[in-house]
Amino acid sequence: MTNILCIGAGYVGGPTMAVIASHCPQHRVVVVDINEARIQAWQSDQLPIYEPGLDEVVRGARGRNLFFSTDVNRQIAEADIIFVSVNTPTKSFGQGAGRAADLQYWEKTARQIVENSTSPKIVVEKSTLPVRTAEAMEHILNYNSAGLHFDIVSNPEFLAEGTAIQDMQQPDRVLIGGKDSPSGQKAVQAIVDIYAQWIPLERIITTNLWSSELSKLAANAFLAQRVSSINAISALCEKTGADVTEVSHAIGLDSRIGRSFLRASVGFGGSCFRKDILNLVYLCEYYGLGEVASYWEQVIKMNEHQQMRFVSNMVSSMFNTVAGKRIALFGAAFKANTSDTRESPALAVCRALLEERAEIVLTDPHALDNARADLGGAAQLVCFEPDPYAAAKGAHAIAILTDWAQFTNLDYDAIYKSMAKPAFIFDGRNILDHKKLHAIGFNVYAIGKPPLTHIPAI
Ligand code: NAD
Ligand code: UGA
Repeated sequence: MTNILCIGAGYVGGPTMAVIASHCPQHRVVVVDINEARIQAWQSDQLPIYEPGLDEVVRGARGRNLFFSTDVNRQIAEADIIFVSVNTPTKSFGQGAGRAADLQYWEKTARQIVENSTSPKIVVEKSTLPVRTAEAMEHILNYNSAGLHFDIVSNPEFLAEGTAIQDMQQPDRVLIGGKDSPSGQKAVQAIVDIYAQWIPLERIITTNLWSSELSKLAANAFLAQRVSSINAISALCEKTGADVTEVSHAIGLDSRIGRSFLRASVGFGGSCFRKDILNLVYLCEYYGLGEVASYWEQVIKMNEHQQMRFVSNMVSSMFNTVAGKRIALFGAAFKANTSDTRESPALAVCRALLEERAEIVLTDPHALDNARADLGGAAQLVCFEPDPYAAAKGAHAIAILTDWAQFTNLDYDAIYKSMAKPAFIFDGRNILDHKKLHAIGFNVYAIGKPPLTHIPAI
């Protein structure tokens, strides 16, 4: 039996360890966190995150070989392998503020590992980290007075929220980076052996530490870049009469381009794309690669532009003012099938419309609590309404901001009747049947498509 510990019971630590525990009944898996409420939730029937399929996996392994605890020090002492999946937000102070990764949580954890260890261990970077972080970790971990040896392995996580369990069960690949020394390679093999319990060996790739660290940042940058690229094209579609869904389909069928991540939208969100690209930009600048840095920075600028373009479009279509008008925002989560609202474009749109003095009512099937917390002071200006029909009642406009399947199946006839007229609908995810909505009476504005309106041009 191997004692596996994960430090950090968040969106990554909880689901990944639950899946490892379910496939490796011979190992004991413990997940620890300093956040007591979070650990209590992991121990209860009301898990701290909404993720399809997660409940079943947790229920199957919890109490058997999967445990949740706040006793970080004791669990460190007992562990053979420690995955570290603490948060690595963007630094908000000092050098690199607004760009570099804030590594304070990682470094504190590394020091805590040293202080509480009495045996050698493998320490696995699960968090997304700047390239060459392992070097700093090596110094902190291995210059200890007890003479203990720690091996550092990079095993970045590629799961996406909303499909986390499926992504873990059948990943495109698992990436494991290690040092080229005998003990480094032994440590890599120990991590390979865990994943090999359910993942074919050809999908488990091993590299050097720096390639592994950089591949994670590069993968997120490439994915976000595709979204920004199609969103840039969507702006041109709106000016020219082209339809971005048709363009996306036409280019995605080229097998060299591929179809994924070409859905035009109100912009990408989520805790990682922005932070990881900013981190990449910072690294490029640090290494004197100014042109490379500005190339990647443009991906973020385009995303911000897309969000604000959406808001401007709303305001100008609604006769250049939304002040005092009730607007129903459908969706708060940054994507469907998650309760996560971190960096959600829905909240960016919400804040911008509040600045225009609109009356905002926000509806979402799972993310209203997180939205309230993330909006901070602005939350008091927002009405949180779980029922989309009630949210739309009396509204001048609806904006679809999250691609929840629920929103496509609503009775838009009834919704239209309950709204102020003229009624507007802005589909920031292109998930609705626009022709049908137009026939009902809505003025319909979608991303990258010609508007369908009943308002005669003057
Ligand atoms: P999260 O904020 O949901 O979870 C991190 C947890 O670590 C928190 O619960 C926090 O309390 C805990 N923590 C912080 N310091 C600690 C300490 N010293 N001891 C014990 N616990 C501590 O973050 P997340 O979304 O799970 O992301 C974690 C890492 O994984 C980040 O680097 C992120 O970039 C990366 N990642 C995230 C995703 C995702 O979908 N969210 C996917 C791939 C990679
Ligand atoms: C993303 C990556 O897909 C994961 O591989 C990675 O592990 C993770 O970031 C991370 O490092 O945190 P996630 O942010 O959970 O996963 O979700 P995505 O499916 O990538 O969506 C990100 C954002 O892009 C969402 O707001 C989504 O709505 C938007 N998006 C995505 C589009 O607007 N259009 C698309 O075609 C695809």
